[in-house]
Amino acid sequence: MTLLNAARAVRENAYAPYSKFKVGAAVRATSGAVHVGCNVENVAYPEGTCAEAGAIAAMIAAGDTRIAEVAVIADSPQPVSPCGGCRQKIAEFAEGDVVVTLHTTDGLELKTTIKTLLPAGFDADYMSRV
Ligand code: THU
Repeated sequence: MTLLNAARAVRENAYAPYSKFKVGAAVRATSGAVHVGCNVENVAYPEGTCAEAGAIAAMIAAGDTRIAEVAVIADSPQPVSPCGGCRQKIAEFAEGDVVVTLHTTDGLELKTTIKTLLPAGFDADYMSRV
């Protein structure tokens, strides 16, 4: 299955009763394994957890720690832009040149990199004096 199809399939499971906006994400780890996530909203935190964060949590739970590629899909007019928190989460587990492909359900595609999405992000090097 392609990374896009994995993201498309898991999007069907998104739990988004508040926003009604379903998102699917898939990450390919450097091991080759694919891990998926969808957004999950809840009454206490209606903004919920993003699909990208879910896919990263699944990756870590499965024992992988490095991301090789990311795909995200939503029913949006333009390819959906990952939120700031998810950019940071992806960046912490990926090299800067890792490709993030953003898709719409009707076939638009935007290919970028995590470094483009999060230039000058915070990383552990800033804490090297601790
Ligand atoms: N959402 C994601 O899951 N990923 C994104 O890249 C953008 C937004 C979710 C969070 C929330 O459940 C809904 O979309 C609306 O913000």
